[in-house]
Amino acid sequence: MDLTLKVWRQKNREDKGGLATYKVAGISEHASFLEMLDVMNEQLIMEGTEPVAFDHDCREGICGTCSLYINGEAHGPDRKVTTCQLHMRMFKDGETIYIEPWRSAAMPVIKDLIVDRSSFERIQQSGGFVSVNTSGNTQDANALPIPKMNADKAFDAAACIGCGACVATCKNSSAMLFVAAKVSQFAYLPQGQVEAKQRVLNMVEQMDKEGFGNCTNTGACEVECPKSISIEYIAKMNREFLSASCSSES
Ligand code: SF4
Ligand code: FES
Repeated sequence: MDLTLKVWRQKNREDKGGLATYKVAGISEHASFLEMLDVMNEQLIMEGTEPVAFDHDCREGICGTCSLYINGEAHGPDRKVTTCQLHMRMFKDGETIYIEPWRSAAMPVIKDLIVDRSSFERIQQSGGFVSVNTSGNTQDANALPIPKMNADKAFDAAACIGCGACVATCKNSSAMLFVAAKVSQFAYLPQGQVEAKQRVLNMVEQMDKEGFGNCTNTGACEVECPKSISIEYIAKMNREFLSASCSSES
């Protein structure tokens, strides 16, 4: 496949940035999107041009770092995949592909296609954990009965990889789907009950401090989420938040 790439280049957070045009030739339709970017960068290095900075780590849909806006869609035209799981057969020979970083004031561009997603980490640090001592005396998991439905819901919520596609897709730059997944994975389990009220209050407070927008129930986040996190978790988080707010006032 021969392709024309329109790639966002930005030296640093302050730089205005803009699209640069590069051509790549002979790309296999079986190559992943990131492998295609590797070919582009090798070509740029050979030409003496600085390669394009982009985030990646696991390249198997787990780490959530490969945050790219491709032809106006988070993680590109395929569904339920991250950019590293996207294959070039989703594109046509001769196509022009636009490649941009996530766009959100709470996730500013660091360089080229890399954004600062530390806002997610600060939200996690504010409550996305359980203070259970797991050293030495861990009891058998089956010793604590958990309804199957709750176990399944907690497991599905825990599939969130913190990629930020929900924020990038949302017209309000809302992080509600991410925070809802992180709150819910504990809210459905007995181990999460001890700190449940403080957890949801702290995480929502931190989310607001980071400058993310509000949820207006558009549902775009759910469509673009590579891990199929349902917006039903946002309803769950809202119920947890209301209940925690009421009891902290009484
Ligand atoms: S909810 Fe989905 S889109 Fe949002 S951070 Fe988690 S995995 Fe990514
Ligand atoms: S590189 Fe880890 S999810 Fe894509």
